[in-house]
Amino acid sequence: MSTLATTLESPTPESAATTTVVSGVQPSGELHIGNYFGAIRQHLALHSQHPAYYFIVNYHALTTLHDREALRQNTLHVAAAYLALGFDPSKAHLFLQSDVPEVTELAWIFYNLVPVSRLELGVSYKEKIDRGLTPNAGLLNYPVLQAADILIYGGSLVPVGADQRQHIEMTRDIAQRFNHTFCPEDDPLFPIPEPYILDNVAIVPGLDGKKMSKSYGNTIGLFDEGKALKKKVMSIVTDSTPLEAPKDPDEDNVFALITLFADKAKQEEIAAAYRAGGYGYGHAKKALLGMINTYFGDARERYHDLMARPDYILDILREGGENGRAQAQQFMERVREVTGLLTTY
Ligand code: TYM
Repeated sequence: MSTLATTLESPTPESAATTTVVSGVQPSGELHIGNYFGAIRQHLALHSQHPAYYFIVNYHALTTLHDREALRQNTLHVAAAYLALGFDPSKAHLFLQSDVPEVTELAWIFYNLVPVSRLELGVSYKEKIDRGLTPNAGLLNYPVLQAADILIYGGSLVPVGADQRQHIEMTRDIAQRFNHTFCPEDDPLFPIPEPYILDNVAIVPGLDGKKMSKSYGNTIGLFDEGKALKKKVMSIVTDSTPLEAPKDPDEDNVFALITLFADKAKQEEIAAAYRAGGYGYGHAKKALLGMINTYFGDARERYHDLMARPDYILDILREGGENGRAQAQQFMERVREVTGLLTTY
């Protein structure tokens, strides 16, 4: 029997009939297992249960990435990853943010409802500035574009990692402010979206125990393999408790990663070995390496096949974009109407 956890532990939300799932991923580098367990796994679990719109947010990536080839390559990478991991294009929409340029129009309308001071307090914005990124206007306004992404499809449920909580909070405020400003009280245009954040994977730790993030250089890539993967797993930071001594699994980073892959019984077995002593961090790392290989092995192969067929990927994105755009355009007609933006065509 497989020891790998592949289904969602939390029940999916209620009010399924009216739920529209939306989420986005930046093509700003290689996807890592933090992206997967924090968000993409939930995207895949939900995409056959509800109408779902998932976009590759290349406009957002432009806030930090100014390299044409890298952006194009990363974009294909993200799309191929979704397909390899099980996204079924007949069930939901996967597309490029830039194939729905109406999101930038909606973002512009939202800018007029958001105090600059609020944006300047953004945790993610401040963290990026602290890291030395240029505080360009795109970076400051990032959460407003994200709100447009969510609201333009009538999104009501947004599966993300915990680092996105504040952005979803801002989206909720913007939706409320828009409804209050422009819509009759009994006929709001935008639903107020809820974040969907699973506690056990809200912040996946990286090799050094800090949040796994491309910008910290502490990631395990979704499709890392062979020696490179082994080197990373073996470099996971642990304390220096000797092999024979009992260890506390809840204090250990390797064990934290193991819990992502192993089912409850396997987790308990390994936790018991930690506590008993005679089980070293090297053993735990080996176990983790095996789990990663088993979990992602098939997807890796599909990923490499897909990356060799960029036209196929682009066809899927094109079709997803057409559907996404049709939905967005319908929304924008109503937005224009309630705000008083005349249209003459
Ligand atoms: P991005 O590309 O930075 O991250 C994609 C998703 O991965 C999650 N994530 C993590 N979850 C748990 N542990 C980690 N270490 C970890 N690292 C990343 C993120 O929370 C995210 O869900 N702003 C979004 C992109 C976006 C978006 C949207 C999301 C743009 N528009 C509309 C939802 C709806 C972001 O930063 O993605």
